[in-house]
Amino acid sequence: MIITIDGPTASGKSTTATLLAQKLGMNHLNSGLLYRALAYLLLNKKQYGLTDLYEPLARDVSFFLDPERFLVSFGKDNKMSILYAQEDITPFLKDEIIDSAASMVSTNAVVRQKITDLQRVLAQEKDIVLDGRDAGSNVFPHADVKFYVTASEPIRAVRWQQAMAKKGINFSLLEAIENIKERDSRDQNRKIAPLQIPDDAIVIDNSDDSIEQTLLEILECLKKKGALN
Ligand code: DC
Repeated sequence: MIITIDGPTASGKSTTATLLAQKLGMNHLNSGLLYRALAYLLLNKKQYGLTDLYEPLARDVSFFLDPERFLVSFGKDNKMSILYAQEDITPFLKDEIIDSAASMVSTNAVVRQKITDLQRVLAQEKDIVLDGRDAGSNVFPHADVKFYVTASEPIRAVRWQQAMAKKGINFSLLEAIENIKERDSRDQNRKIAPLQIPDDAIVIDNSDDSIEQTLLEILECLKKKGALN
């Protein structure tokens, strides 16, 4: 079974997808982490500058995503980790600089095609909860059930601000709103597979809800659709 959860930055989709995957005993494929990992590798192993990430060389993209070096694994908790040349790079992928870097590299056509192909390979013969920006609209248009999770811009800005504060990086609310606006704009306006609500997706606005409430709502929808035993 494939369940997709799309949504904008700081909508809570990744955390919801993790909990849903754990609850249902499925693997959580977090597509944002794939874009983050590629951005991290280009910046740190090939000395790309931030703006070079809009146009990476196709051979560099292929090199870093080569399965000989780039390994995605699902742990006992069904959470995904990424190993590069046998080093677990997952802990480095949530840095603020990687937030922006991933958003930039993800606008590139070659990158999107390679990471889309990779997601399809990773999902083969597995039960997957996939979260992303184009999971239901582009990567798995025939997914069993599709969700689109969102929240208002100020609420997402506060969530992002709080997540950064937990890492010891302080942003004003205005800065957080600017950051969210910038990433939304890049996600929604890119030419290839922009962020959009898939036609047949169930939309959940969790502006006033906790992650636990969002999870319950999703489980309820899955029950109604007969997707749970
Ligand atoms: O969900 P996230 O913040 O971890 O994603 C990081 C960036 O990757 C985000 O700015 C947009 C991009 N992304 C994408 O373009 N398509 C996806 N399916 C997932 C993420």
